[in-house]
Amino acid sequence: MIIDSHCHLYDNKLNEIKQEILKSLTKTPQIAICNGDNIETSIQSINLANNNANIFATVGIHPHEAKTFDESSIKKLENLAKNKKVVAIGEIGLDYFYNFSPKETQKNVLIQQIVLANKLKLPCVFHIREATQDFLDIVKDLSQKYNFSGYVHSFSGSIETLKIYLSYGFYIGINGIITFKNANKMLDVVKFLPLNRILIETDAPYLTPVPYRGKLNRPEYVELVANKIAELKGLSLQDVISATTQNAKTFFNLPE
Ligand code: NI
Repeated sequence: MIIDSHCHLYDNKLNEIKQEILKSLTKTPQIAICNGDNIETSIQSINLANNNANIFATVGIHPHEAKTFDESSIKKLENLAKNKKVVAIGEIGLDYFYNFSPKETQKNVLIQQIVLANKLKLPCVFHIREATQDFLDIVKDLSQKYNFSGYVHSFSGSIETLKIYLSYGFYIGINGIITFKNANKMLDVVKFLPLNRILIETDAPYLTPVPYRGKLNRPEYVELVANKIAELKGLSLQDVISATTQNAKTFFNLPE
């Protein structure tokens, strides 16, 4: 069993290979966590999960979509999260690289969704880009009042930032980026990162690992990420797969 902890299987780019992907999930076997990024794609993720035993869903509003958030959004997410296949609130966060939504809106939408996760006792999947300090300020503030566990997907920061995330007990998402030629900094991150904090992910259809760059990413390629981690840490592929599968089961509270 291998788990792709972060992908977007509803993405239209995957339409032509969707059936192939669904079939490959049952073969390995493999679990894929399909992440919503707005209300509509959260519903699509749940539909995929309801129709496929190997898929679980998250519901949430991505920082890019924060401007679509309104008073009814939290209630909608709460109702969607009642579905048994929903395992987290995500992906939520801050993205100051693209700034598709105003910063203050992004922060407000993130905070409200962390509060919701606390209420529903669900973990949070975070997308943080060029916004580490604001994110840490929010985490510091909210962790005094609320209980929430976190997974920082597609981590790309420094080891200093990593240490702070680990001090909050967060899991760290590692993906195909570590197979890219310019991945130097991330290689040190992976060597430093304890195996019991790593979640492996594809972010499919994006971030396709070497040697499939230029093609669409898919959950089965997550094994290439595990393989690179094994190489960097001097472990066997099986050790990395077993540990990260257990990490994902623990974080998402997946059924045995
Ligand atoms: Ni994503």
